[in-house]
Amino acid sequence: MTTIPARAKTAAPAAPLALLAELTHRCPLRCPYCSNPTELARVAQELDTATWARVFQEAAALGCLQVHLSGGEPTARRDIREIVRAASEAGLYTNLITSGVLTGETKLQALVEAGLDHVQLSVQDAEPGSADRIGGYRGGHARKLEFANRVHEAGLPLTLNAVVHRQNLDRLPQLIDLALELGAGRLEVAHVQYYGWALANRDALLPTRDQLEAATATVEAARRDLRGRLVIDYVVPDYYAKRPKACMGGWGRQFLAVSPAGRVLPCHAAESLPGFDFPNVREVSLREAWEHSEAFNRFRGTAWMPAPCQGCERAELDWGGCRCQAFALLGDAAATDPACVLSPHHAVLSLAVGAAAGAGEGFTYREPRKDPRHGGPMAEAS
Ligand code: SF4
Ligand code: FES
Repeated sequence: MTTIPARAKTAAPAAPLALLAELTHRCPLRCPYCSNPTELARVAQELDTATWARVFQEAAALGCLQVHLSGGEPTARRDIREIVRAASEAGLYTNLITSGVLTGETKLQALVEAGLDHVQLSVQDAEPGSADRIGGYRGGHARKLEFANRVHEAGLPLTLNAVVHRQNLDRLPQLIDLALELGAGRLEVAHVQYYGWALANRDALLPTRDQLEAATATVEAARRDLRGRLVIDYVVPDYYAKRPKACMGGWGRQFLAVSPAGRVLPCHAAESLPGFDFPNVREVSLREAWEHSEAFNRFRGTAWMPAPCQGCERAELDWGGCRCQAFALLGDAAATDPACVLSPHHAVLSLAVGAAAGAGEGFTYREPRKDPRHGGPMAEAS
């Protein structure tokens, strides 16, 4: 593994656009592509309400405009109303990223009164049986539809988030119809990103090239036909790419995340990277973490980049791709993202596609729920 020396402190970076607040890793669902780390934080490690309130004030002072309240399932926290209120009082635009299965009418109304601005609801499929199986939660899809209707009635803007893969991609037209039926203003069609749980389930999730091409054509046609009615964001899969995506808009450039236990991270998956001492909001301010921590400065800019990226015309467009993917696939967070055709390791992606062809559809789910209020988990059926 290449060892990259820590960069000297740089001039203060521009303000981050948004804070991802991961309030908890607890969740009633068990999606096999969950972006949470495979080592989940325990309840006792979670930040308390007052600390989150301070973090929101610090984020606003740093220049953040919005906060994404996420998890796990953020509404699993008993103090979610106080947390929304604190974020709103800090002047942040509040977006709740939720599975929707724990929020009845009374709770939603309380969140609206606390200042909630926007809801992003995940769906696992358009077909209820398949959606419940993928999420590992029986009856979950029906609950999501009820929740979406409540959001609509409450007058909140709604984004539907559909993570797509081999086992649901053929129903993309129905997912688009579902977004329209539910009154969503935006649909995110996001191909699975393969780190953490998703990497463990890669063979069961990777789409075929034919599926990808059909999905891309579906999105392009829907964007034309639904202009003015539905905005469709489309995150394409790296495994068929020639160039990587600018993950998080570049390391430490636009986003920061705070984990349930208070670690300040350049992206939600960064805890998987070894050799980092991520700052903690219990010990340092968000500004100190953003501007001066070694962890945020290590892959900022272009000076750290390896050979194919140095001098490349795309260096300040994709910022060398995704550090977490480079580590997950190559064991080296400082390597060029293998999604790039110029990477000497680009072939690992086509090898993975080959291995997934003909693989079974069974999942390794994230840990079963412990909280009996959340109902019983579904057994894997296949
Ligand atoms: Fe991006 Fe590096 Fe590939 Fe150039 S060589 S396209 S900067 S990943
Ligand atoms: Fe961490 Fe891409 S997910 S840098």
